[in-house]
Amino acid sequence: MLLVTSLIITSNGAWSASRKCDDSLVAPLPIKSFNSSSEYGRGYAAAFAKLNRIQGAGGWSPLDTNRYQWLQVDLGSRKQVVSIATQGRYRSSDWTSQYQLLYSDAANNWRPYLKDGNIWTFKGNNNSEDVVREELQHAIVARYIRFIPLHWSQKGRIGVRLELYGCSYWADVISFDGHSIISYRFRSKKMKTVKDVISLKFKTTARDGVLLYGEGQQGDYILLQLQRATMELSINLGSSQYNLIKGHTSVTSGSLLDDGHWHSVAIERYRRNINFTLDHQTQQFRTNGEFEHLDLDYEVN
Ligand SMILES: *[C@@H]1O[C@H](CO)[C@@H](O)[C@H](O)[C@H]1NC(C)=O
Ligand SMILES: *[C@@H]1O[C@H](CO)[C@@H](O)[C@H](O)[C@H]1NC(C)=O
Ligand SMILES: *[C@@H]1O[C@H](CO)[C@@H](O)[C@H](O)[C@H]1NC(C)=O
Repeated sequence: MLLVTSLIITSNGAWSASRKCDDSLVAPLPIKSFNSSSEYGRGYAAAFAKLNRIQGAGGWSPLDTNRYQWLQVDLGSRKQVVSIATQGRYRSSDWTSQYQLLYSDAANNWRPYLKDGNIWTFKGNNNSEDVVREELQHAIVARYIRFIPLHWSQKGRIGVRLELYGCSYWADVISFDGHSIISYRFRSKKMKTVKDVISLKFKTTARDGVLLYGEGQQGDYILLQLQRATMELSINLGSSQYNLIKGHTSVTSGSLLDDGHWHSVAIERYRRNINFTLDHQTQQFRTNGEFEHLDLDYEVN
């Protein structure tokens, strides 16, 4: 069995690094992205909890005001969340003065947001209108975020409107066990990348196996496989019909990789230059052919 963990693919790194990670993640979400433990009434549903909005009753309030309530936001895909802003329910005496955040990739296995190693309690609001923004010490990377009220208005109920700030997560961490196929879809369907980073760890007692394969419509592909316990990387940045063989480049590294211990692989590419690192041994090479873009529009499996 081939066991691979932490596959990290950073696609189009140059673009994401130059972009500020401060988008409003909640404002554009549709109604179905929100859920909650309960609601006080129709106008008090979780979908009304967008910052500065006044629709419905102007925010979320659960049916009961106690410590068992939660509001959940589905960001649609994994996002990097760097800060949160909260506000009370519009023109009311309902707000949340202390809360915690949980996050998850599959709306189960919730993990609490920690700061300095402790489950962190955020300071919320003490009126209905002022926006209180908190920067996260470490960005949360997750698809689902849960807001858990701990303390609230003394003269009212739990109430909140909120916003999460962050950006798309261009590096994705995927775990799989050798039996399951993982799929990583590049965010934009047709993406030409001049730069990318792929890194993963694996352990295996098998001498042969494919760790990673991705291909595009134009014949571009990247293949990382074990052959007789040696790692082989093959990459093709595109072949024209006149140039079918030339675009293909293959290099090998390591031996006895079927020893059941963890090994790490990193592939860094900038245009035609590749750094192929296996267990801290780096080989630098240039791909053949005249193409500088990797056109992957399919999933990397
Ligand atoms: C929303 O939360 C309720 C519990 O309050 C749960 O029963 C329901 O399945 C959830 N819906 C979705 C779409 O997650
Ligand atoms: C209300 O919140 C503001 C801003 O966070 C803070 O400065 C103020 O001390 C708070 N007042 C009370 C009574 O908690
Ligand atoms: C490969 O490594 C060298 C030395 O660390 C570095 O200067 C170069 O930018 C790297 N190339 C790529 C494609 O990451």
